[in-house]
Amino acid sequence: MTQTIRFLLNQTPVEVAGLSPTTTVLQWLRGPGRRPGTKEGCAEGDCGACSVVIGEADSGGAVQYRTVNACIQFLPTLDGRQLLTVEDLRQADGTLHPVQQAMVDCHGAQCGFCTPGFVMSMFALYEQHASAPPAEVVTDALVGNLCRCTGYRPILEAAVRAFDQPRDERFTENRQQTATLLAPLGRAAPLRYEHDGQIFIAPTTLDEMDAALAEFPGACVLSGGTDVGLWVTKRHMTLPVLIYTGKCAPLHTVQTLADGSVVVGGGASITSALEAIAAAHPGLAALYARFASLQIRNAGTIGGNVANGSPIGDSMPALLALGASVTLRGARGTRVIALDAYYHAYMKNERAPDEYVAAVSIAPLGDRHFATYKLTKRPDQDISAVCAAFCLDVRDGVVHEARIAYGGMAATPVRASATEAALTGRPLSAATLDAALAALDKEFTPLSDMRASAAYRRLTARNLLQRFYLEITGTPVDRVEVYAHA
Ligand SMILES: Cc1cc2nc3c(=O)[nH]c(=O)nc-3n(C[C@H](O)[C@H](O)[C@H](O)COP(=O)(O)OP(=O)(O)OC[C@H]3O[C@@H](n4cnc5c(N)ncnc54)[C@H](O)[C@@H]3O)c2cc1C
Ligand code: FES
Ligand code: FES
Repeated sequence: MTQTIRFLLNQTPVEVAGLSPTTTVLQWLRGPGRRPGTKEGCAEGDCGACSVVIGEADSGGAVQYRTVNACIQFLPTLDGRQLLTVEDLRQADGTLHPVQQAMVDCHGAQCGFCTPGFVMSMFALYEQHASAPPAEVVTDALVGNLCRCTGYRPILEAAVRAFDQPRDERFTENRQQTATLLAPLGRAAPLRYEHDGQIFIAPTTLDEMDAALAEFPGACVLSGGTDVGLWVTKRHMTLPVLIYTGKCAPLHTVQTLADGSVVVGGGASITSALEAIAAAHPGLAALYARFASLQIRNAGTIGGNVANGSPIGDSMPALLALGASVTLRGARGTRVIALDAYYHAYMKNERAPDEYVAAVSIAPLGDRHFATYKLTKRPDQDISAVCAAFCLDVRDGVVHEARIAYGGMAATPVRASATEAALTGRPLSAATLDAALAALDKEFTPLSDMRASAAYRRLTARNLLQRFYLEITGTPVDRVEVYAHA
């Protein structure tokens, strides 16, 4: 028998049934929810017009807020959570929230279409900081919101000026009440929501995850939905069974082990994993800082990135270079696979239909040199044309081990084994670099597509290897020969 979806709309408990489980939060808001303040621009997570804030009790019971794109979040993912939209910010007497007032004062809106989304991103920033944070934090909070007419200067100014207004403590003061209202929405057994032949299951334990996949092998495992959401909104796919990791606490853990490995649960958002990754692998954290937008990182997971295995996904080259492994789990047991062995062909991998990614483990860096570089048409909120990662273990000036991986160069994220062989056992020198570049030239046959031509990919792949060499050897750039692509 189906259950209903239960969540808080600000402070009001709401129960929903009779809709497809792949109805998006945005479709519900602008339809049955009658909250049209939230806008639809792209319906693919890119423009931020649909930004809303999700409130959720953390393990200590405190309510935490995060922005997400309502256009690619499915409605049942709200179960047991709080949804805040732009309609919730103005007070009953008409007084605007400081972020709204600052937008007015700074002339931060012209046509206004993007404004509700910006306001919600600013609101989450406001709730997370008692005073204006550094400029780069403000910019990062707004990277996922696009404006086509006002220009960003007044909007960024408004985000800062909001902190100069008398503080609005309503949401802070309400957090205890919100936690109290959320508590009865918790479930002893997984949510099982069904409509018109479609099923959405939200296990809360690993055993329940195992059982759900055993009951529905081949079901769509849903984590942040930042890939899966688009299968519905853009490809118009019907997904008969969804098994959601978002309520399974053991899949959300992020641990640093005694040997320095970082183990990221298969359902942990990129945002929640960043602190541990930054401590162990600053180079990888720098890459994640350029991964999509804050809204996408707040929902999207490393597990989902790896499981999806897109040839232009950002995590995989770095994880391949660092020597990561994937823990696959299901009712038949648990197995650990080196990421090298995980991808078989374009979008085909080692995971069996009744398994899920329980964790991604990232080996410690030790004394190895590591860097990963992402090439895109614009710095923020863009998917790679080429992504490269290099990890060299150099001992007494000789390359002891080389691990090099690329995205955007083949049908899967892939290691450059011939290039690695050209480096291994050789002195770290310009001559060795030449040999490695020659090997790299023959290693891949990339495609031309809308992101880049094959020639661009080949040239930049070698330029990035050269850049890594220059960085780790500290070679002054003006004395280096420029390598032209033949
Ligand atoms: C606007 C936008 C910008 C983006 N920018 C980037 C970018 O800069 N770099 C980049 O690499 N990607 C980017 N992406 C793609 C996407 O955000 C990532 O691939 C993300 O990591 C997917 O994680 P998710 O949790 O949202 O996965 P989901 O969408 O939930 O799932 C993705 C796939 O993984 C499977 N899956 C998810 N979790 C598990 C699990 N635990 N076990 C087994 N299978 C699982 C799903 O079944 C599905 O096949 C972007 C997407 C959008 C919409
Ligand atoms: S409508 Fe553009 S991000 Fe959702
Ligand atoms: S004010 Fe028109 S898109 Fe931003």
